[in-house]
Amino acid sequence: MRVIRVTDHAEVSALAAELLAKFIAEHDEVVLALPTGGTPLGMYNELVTLARTGALDLGRATVFNLDEYVGLPSDHSQSYASYMRRHLYDRAEFDPTKLHIPDGNAEDLVAACASYEGRIAEAGGLDIAVLGIGANGHIAFNEPGCGLNSRVRVVRLSDRTVLDNARFFDDPRAVPRHAITMGVGTIRSSRALMMLASGEGKAAAVAAALEGPVTTRCPASAIQLHPSAVVILDEEAASALRVRPWSKEEFLADPHAPQFLFL
Ligand code: GLP
Repeated sequence: MRVIRVTDHAEVSALAAELLAKFIAEHDEVVLALPTGGTPLGMYNELVTLARTGALDLGRATVFNLDEYVGLPSDHSQSYASYMRRHLYDRAEFDPTKLHIPDGNAEDLVAACASYEGRIAEAGGLDIAVLGIGANGHIAFNEPGCGLNSRVRVVRLSDRTVLDNARFFDDPRAVPRHAITMGVGTIRSSRALMMLASGEGKAAAVAAALEGPVTTRCPASAIQLHPSAVVILDEEAASALRVRPWSKEEFLADPHAPQFLFL
């Protein structure tokens, strides 16, 4: 696990996009898992800019979203399907046949979960999963208490997560209580992980995830067990860590450390 600290959210976004663009450029076919939330927005803007200048071909990328709400129409402004279209897919040249999101409106949700896990396997598995982290230590929608080998399934959201995500909804009571999420096991099966966190509100969760015990109480702590993970934090998100993270300059310049752990 390589933990890198930069100054602020803009630098988190720029470095994440730089590493992801390099990863995509160096693979003929690449299978990504991508997150939603406020944290990755800057990274998506940077990726769109790189694609528009011709420096990045996003058409080769197969993308699986980490999660989706259950029961929210896919054209609802806060569905993760809408989020991905608005912030990424409609702004760059993707191959629409390679974009996947769990079907939170399926009549048979159990079958929809199995089908999603199956599609990831058919695509050859995830090459890199980009993750945010919830203030309670969740990744995707894997809430505290979930199994660290869990696979794609329907979960009930914690009160904390519903409250945190209510800021995106006009009517806070409209936040769904359930979601389909990749499991911690699905995420751990990815060949590489890249976690991003920004802001003081994430400091305690980041410290628990990176320096606490690996425990279901903090699903993000599973990242410690991954052989090829990069974590990019801004100063505030890194503020509760006791082990000093790398600076971006150290990370990029160290001749003895692979610049991209996951290559
Ligand atoms: C949601 C998503 C997570 C994301 C988290 C943090 O709950 N399901 O994948 O990491 O929010 O979001 P933010 O980046 O807005 O803090």
